[in-house]
Amino acid sequence: MTLDLPQRPRRNRQSPAIRGAVRETTLRLDQLVYPLFLHADDADTPLESLPGQTRWSVRGLVDEVGRCLGLGVDKFVLFPKVDDALKTRTGDEAFNPDGLIPDAIRAIKAAHRHACVITDVALDPYSSDGHDGVVTDDGVVGNDATVEVLCQQALCHARAGADTVAPSDMMDGRVGAIRAALDQEGLTDVSILSYTAKYASSFYGPFRGALDSAPKSGDGDRVIPGDKSTYQMDPANVREALRELALDEAEGADMVMVKPAGPYLDVVRAVREHTTLPVAAYQVSGEYLMLKAAAASGWLDERAVVMESLLGVRRAGAGLILTYFAPQVAEWLKP
Ligand code: PBG
Repeated sequence: MTLDLPQRPRRNRQSPAIRGAVRETTLRLDQLVYPLFLHADDADTPLESLPGQTRWSVRGLVDEVGRCLGLGVDKFVLFPKVDDALKTRTGDEAFNPDGLIPDAIRAIKAAHRHACVITDVALDPYSSDGHDGVVTDDGVVGNDATVEVLCQQALCHARAGADTVAPSDMMDGRVGAIRAALDQEGLTDVSILSYTAKYASSFYGPFRGALDSAPKSGDGDRVIPGDKSTYQMDPANVREALRELALDEAEGADMVMVKPAGPYLDVVRAVREHTTLPVAAYQVSGEYLMLKAAAASGWLDERAVVMESLLGVRRAGAGLILTYFAPQVAEWLKP
């Protein structure tokens, strides 16, 4: 029998050629940013909590950046594991001009001029309390005192040659303060990728393990907040993301980000629809680990699900994606 159907959507799916012609979303390598971990050690240490990822020495990091450039991945964001001995309550190591991050930026730029280096601006790797900001004696993460340190940190990265600074701390007013601090020093070309809607997510677990940067428990009289929910956003909220977006735009952000990505695609979509700025999304460590674990068990086809997960983030409206799969995707897309 033949149904009387004027509309048969399957006609547009009948061959690879036609499917290619009607495909709405694509994933390009130049949309990917690769997060890299580093430490002051000479060894390159595989990360147990993030299979396939490494905590690099500076030398190993420079080589890895070179390998990625060869594959077509040219944007990197750096995350340091800092020695416990260098951590303090105010995180002053964050702006040491001879610290790990400025050293790494200079080394990368010396070897690979075209690598785009993005740095994370937040205090958690440097904080003995494991927070993105400075915990006061009253046990609160102080906003304005933290922003002051973040400005120093951003300046330190920019002076060392960072292309972009990415404040991930969620303090109020930090984008505007960092913009002003950079401009005052003539660093007007250094851009700001703001973590606009960063949620208090449990999907960051493997990352905090990799950097040993989870909030610490208080000792005796001192109270240290056990989580980041007084600054990172409540996973229940999406309108609030638009409020943060409006502020970041007004304060001079060049790009805005939603994090995590996969469980927050509606937020990516909402942010995309309310700004003309480029929108990024961060497929975080827990999302990576879930896909890796499922693939390792043999239950899911790694390549297929990774590409589908990234396409989903693109379709939701992200122009840039931070993902630990970046060089792997580049290998897969090789002609
Ligand atoms: C630190 C920071 C975190 C991540 C990126 N920057 C952790 C946190 O906020 O606790 C998480 C990234 C990931 O899980 O892949 N400000």
